Amino acid sequence: MKIGAVRGMRDILPEETPLWQKLEAEIRAAFALYGYREIRTPLVEEAGLFARGVGQATDLVHKEMYVFPDKKGLTLALRPEATASVVRAYIEHGLYAKGGVAKLYYFGPMFRYEKPQKGRSRQFHQYGVEALGSLDPALDAEVIDLAGYLMERLGLPREGLFLRINSIGCKEDRARYREALRDFFTPRAEELCADCRRRLSENPLRILDCKRGGCQPAIRAAPKSTDFLCAECRAHFQEVLAHLDRLGTPYELDHTLVRGLDYYTRTVFELASRDLGAQDALLGGGRYDDLAELLGGPPTPGVGFAGGMERLVLVLRDRAELELAGKLDVYVIPIGEEQEVKRAAVWAASQLRRAGLAVDVEYLGRSVRKATQVASRVARHALFLGPDELAQGVAKLKDLSSGEERPLKLENLGAAFQQKVRARG
Ligand code: HAM
Repeated sequence: MKIGAVRGMRDILPEETPLWQKLEAEIRAAFALYGYREIRTPLVEEAGLFARGVGQATDLVHKEMYVFPDKKGLTLALRPEATASVVRAYIEHGLYAKGGVAKLYYFGPMFRYEKPQKGRSRQFHQYGVEALGSLDPALDAEVIDLAGYLMERLGLPREGLFLRINSIGCKEDRARYREALRDFFTPRAEELCADCRRRLSENPLRILDCKRGGCQPAIRAAPKSTDFLCAECRAHFQEVLAHLDRLGTPYELDHTLVRGLDYYTRTVFELASRDLGAQDALLGGGRYDDLAELLGGPPTPGVGFAGGMERLVLVLRDRAELELAGKLDVYVIPIGEEQEVKRAAVWAASQLRRAGLAVDVEYLGRSVRKATQVASRVARHALFLGPDELAQGVAKLKDLSSGEERPLKLENLGAAFQQKVRARG
């Protein structure tokens, strides 16, 4: 029986990896411009980290987490997200002792046992940032500005994107809001799905995340979180919006946006794409001012976001400006069967690689015509080497876009190639 990849988890094949690498390089560069440094945390954590950090009642923990015991019976989880891990590491390594704002970014696979569909898989990859140590609304705005800058840098037009934003207030505000939601939904419990009826007793805020059509009329009529903000949280939100106005960042106030994770406080936001359909969030984030304390650390405010690489790939795959050459510099084609020629070809490839060129060799013994066709697909130049060339100490270099051919001395081959190609401009 053939074994395939696990449902919802997929291979990223060599045709696609140049795009992934390019995106990753652009994202890293954008994060660095905003002062973030990379942190790499383990893929496996104690399940309790997410139960406590993200919330036992969230779908993420309740339904979607991959949980398993290790050989000593410790309950572990494949990380479903990275914010809790980053905050755990921040506490564990005393990063707060360094003072200032800790700006951390990450990349990597996350795991959620969700129903696979377009833009949603069970292993997916996130890029994200976390800024820990400041309550300043300017930092919320900076994080959102970074998200916008990133999309600009990747060539995504603004018209195709929209920023949804809301504030869900501090712990006390949320407690009052939760009660208001409970009072509102309890008499309407009949209109809600079974999951939402469970949420009604566990955490009615999560009802607002429900995507089921039947629950939407009740959700749309529900009280707004912004009507329950204390004076401080209200001022904070107003200042975030004022910063966004000053930065020229358009946004839509979305009163139903509460995001699916329990750690959020105050600002929550999502940047969505009009090209993505049902799973339209390119990235999402917000503040989590109580998370560090909840995880046993010193009280430390934080704000950040994470986005899905797969969704970026979906919206960028067809864009011409990101079409990646991903081509070799040279494809070396030995002519004839002679071992001496073959050895010279392998040697030539080795020399060119040492000059920093990406090179491959025709190893399948195809005819020169066939091999040249292959070369045109995978490389910018073909280098032909036959007994005649070898006797003269040269190889024949062909520019595969112009068709131009010229001899190249085998002596100092790497330098000779660089010189000729550069001389042509
Ligand atoms: P999240 O909204 O759960 O937030 O995920 C962030 C992004 O990851 C989503 O907007 C989406 O692009 C992508 N994503 C999530 N689930 C999947 C999936 N099953 N398949 C493909 N892509 C997916 C968080 O994870 C928070 N930790 C974000 C954050 C950071 N908040 C503060 N700091």
